[in-house]
Amino acid sequence: MLDLNSAYSYLLLTKYYCDTCVVAEADGKIVGFVSAFQPPRQAEVIFVWQVAVDEEFRRRRLGLNMLKHLLAREICSNCRYLELTVNPSNHAAFNLYYQLAHDLKTSCVEEECFPSRLFPGEKHEEEVMLRIGPLI
Ligand SMILES: CC(C)(COP(=O)(O)OP(=O)(O)OC[C@H]1O[C@@H](n2cnc3c(N)ncnc32)[C@H](O)[C@@H]1OP(=O)(O)O)[C@@H](O)C(=O)NCCC(=O)NCCS
Repeated sequence: MLDLNSAYSYLLLTKYYCDTCVVAEADGKIVGFVSAFQPPRQAEVIFVWQVAVDEEFRRRRLGLNMLKHLLAREICSNCRYLELTVNPSNHAAFNLYYQLAHDLKTSCVEEECFPSRLFPGEKHEEEVMLRIGPLI
């Protein structure tokens, strides 16, 4: 499931990271988004923070196409890896990223990232890192 963040964090993304974020619109309504950024000191990486698609628009390849659109942008031309973290129970997200790796004819490697003990408050699933690439 998607962690909801504050409106302020999404506004920061629109102000400072708009080159690496994507929105999909239908009839003037936002029906999907990808938030991503290039991690400092890792010029070869594009890190995808969140991808979400309106329930009505799911399973139409919108998630996949937004990610491909992002990778096709000039700003990603030197990116060799797309990284993200995902909860192990999020099968839709796992499958989406393995499908992306498959379509790009490249690998998807999993490694530990943020164990659940690092999350304060209510129990939070661990976040596993997926590293897709090489892309070029
Ligand atoms: C994950 C999510 C973005 C996928 O978006 P989508 O536009 O429906 O995905 P696509 O249509 O591009 O699917 C591409 C592939 O991903 C896999 N996939 C997508 N949704 C799936 C699901 N519910 N169950 C299993 N596999 C799924 C399939 O392999 C699919 O290819 P196929 O339809 O040809 O079988 C969407 O389900 C969503 O918004 N979920 C809630 C938010 C979330 O959990 N985001 C991820 C963590 S940030």
